[in-house]
Amino acid sequence: MSETDTRAGTTAVTDDDDKPLLKVEGLVKHFPIKKGLLQRQVGAVKAVDGIDFEVRRGETLGVVGESGCGKSTMGRLITRLLEPSGGKIEFDGTDITHLGTSGMRPFRRDVQMIFQDPYGSLNPRHTIGTIVSAPFRLQGVEPEGGVKQEVQRLLELVGLSPEHYNRYPHEFSGGQRQRIGIARALALKPRMVVADEPVSALDVSIQAQVVNLMDDLQDELGLTYVIIAHDLSVVRHVSDRIAVMYLGKIVELADRGSLYASPMHPYTKALLSAVPIPDPRRRAAKSERILLRGDVPSPIAPPSGCRFHTRCWKATQICKSTEPPLIELRPGQRVACHHPENFEDQAPQDTVLLSAAKEAAALVADEVLAESAQTSAAVAAEKGPESSREGAETEAEASVEEAADSASKEPGGK
Ligand SMILES: Nc1ncnc2c1ncn2[C@@H]1O[C@H](COP(=O)(O)OP(=O)(O)OP(=O)(O)O)[C@@H](O)[C@H]1O
Ligand code: SF4
Ligand SMILES: [Mg+2]
Repeated sequence: MSETDTRAGTTAVTDDDDKPLLKVEGLVKHFPIKKGLLQRQVGAVKAVDGIDFEVRRGETLGVVGESGCGKSTMGRLITRLLEPSGGKIEFDGTDITHLGTSGMRPFRRDVQMIFQDPYGSLNPRHTIGTIVSAPFRLQGVEPEGGVKQEVQRLLELVGLSPEHYNRYPHEFSGGQRQRIGIARALALKPRMVVADEPVSALDVSIQAQVVNLMDDLQDELGLTYVIIAHDLSVVRHVSDRIAVMYLGKIVELADRGSLYASPMHPYTKALLSAVPIPDPRRRAAKSERILLRGDVPSPIAPPSGCRFHTRCWKATQICKSTEPPLIELRPGQRVACHHPENFEDQAPQDTVLLSAAKEAAALVADEVLAESAQTSAAVAAEKGPESSREGAETEAEASVEEAADSASKEPGGK
């Protein structure tokens, strides 16, 4: 593919390395809620509500946050599968915020997405060859040596056999299907890959294989990644920087090292305290964990001021009334909080604690957690293997149904 070889994608020869590959300013996505015969708009789901960040060339940016905080919406906005309601997206210096189908055509090759569900995202009626070659057809690209040869090369690249070309998705395991999804995403030699929960549907043993494959491909092809996950344990080993989202906002954005060593946003601290610590020596040193009670509030009417104030044990009156801006409190660490952790208080005069918020989070001693883990283990042992098998079957059935359901909406064909 001589044309793509000359693009900056693989080696970024012509790019100004200091400039970010992707720059996002004030990005907003509100999904309107309509009611009645006239379909009048009565409100909006504020899925993404004003976020700023950039993705540097060759880095992996991890994006974490609880379910419903807007991670997938953000991923679909920056790949322009969704039209933003506001803000600006710049890819390699070009404003792509409102480009139409034809305007986006060249960028479609540069930015690709790997989807969460390896079962639902591959059309079960198409062969692997048809699925992986779809991007070539859609973009009208004829690779050197022909499409079949290139698809077989891609299959080998992701650890599959070229002989899988004529097989169907149902013949593959979840991990293999995710490899097929990765091969499809890499077909047009993209520069940036947005991976939405790429391993969360896979067994833990397979997760590591797919993460390692993505890591190797990044080194080999000079890729830039945005990896979306709902917890910090998945992005822990792969990310250079991590953005923590809460209810449509980025609340902390920092280098991985700083974030793990000294998180500054209370929400990050709570998320981190839920991550199991593999090193037994460090595990012993940890004295308290934070359990956040209750669900994330509705994105239709997010709380005033700091959106985390209804669950934050440090909340004061100013948190309720004034939204804290995302500012750089330490080099490379941006935080949106009036009373950050591991740093001087931004609003020391404001000392009235919101008791409701205090009750929404509990500081739990390690002994209590250990006891509760023992109880759950005992309950699981008592229930026996029957119950877990039952769950697995239901899950498998659901996946098959989803796959059939998605027959007409293969993402590669968007
Ligand atoms: N097309 C849509 N129409 C209306 N609301 C939507 C739409 N897509 C997403 N939402 C809402 O936007 C909010 C953010 O959704 P999103 O899927 O981005 O969250 P997420 O962080 O990816 O969650 P998860 O971890 O569960 O995947 C949710 O409240 C969701 O219900
Ligand atoms: S201390 Fe206040 S501003 Fe900081 S996270 Fe808690 S509620 Fe938000
Ligand atoms: Mg999601």
